[in-house]
Amino acid sequence: MALRPILVAPDPVLKQKSKPVEGGVTDAHRALMDDMLETMYDAPGIGLAAIQVGEPLRIIVMDLAKEGEPPAPRYFVNPEITWASDELFSYEEGCLSVPDIYDDVERPARVKLRYLNYQGEQIEEEAEGLYAVCIQHEMDHLEGVLFIDHLSRLKREKALSKLKKARKEAAL
Ligand code: NI
Repeated sequence: MALRPILVAPDPVLKQKSKPVEGGVTDAHRALMDDMLETMYDAPGIGLAAIQVGEPLRIIVMDLAKEGEPPAPRYFVNPEITWASDELFSYEEGCLSVPDIYDDVERPARVKLRYLNYQGEQIEEEAEGLYAVCIQHEMDHLEGVLFIDHLSRLKREKALSKLKKARKEAAL
């Protein structure tokens, strides 16, 4: 396993649309997921999409275990949302690719999803609460969408200028 650098907005790679994994989940995909999980734990974060480490594949890792609970890694290959509730849920989101910015995003409160797991088995399940928030946030990454893209233009521009300023300071 290896740590991978996490891309930070406004890196144009983050705007790319990720491609489906073809031909099932291989050891190479599992090696990527292992690296992604290690990188996510190190950051630390609760979810990471492959594009955030520069790989334009429809792969996500996540761990929603609370502090003090044993690790509970989840792996998603080619996730699809097959149903979303009309009921919405608002949550203060953040993102490893948008450091130090947090804001409320409203999304469907519950979704049904289908994906391949680490072993390549097809799973169908329903997500709610933080799980629903996180999977929708990560699946946005597969479309090149960041959570700040859901904010008003003013808030988004403020967030981006804060990121640019932080980057400039880091370069000094
Ligand atoms: Ni994110």
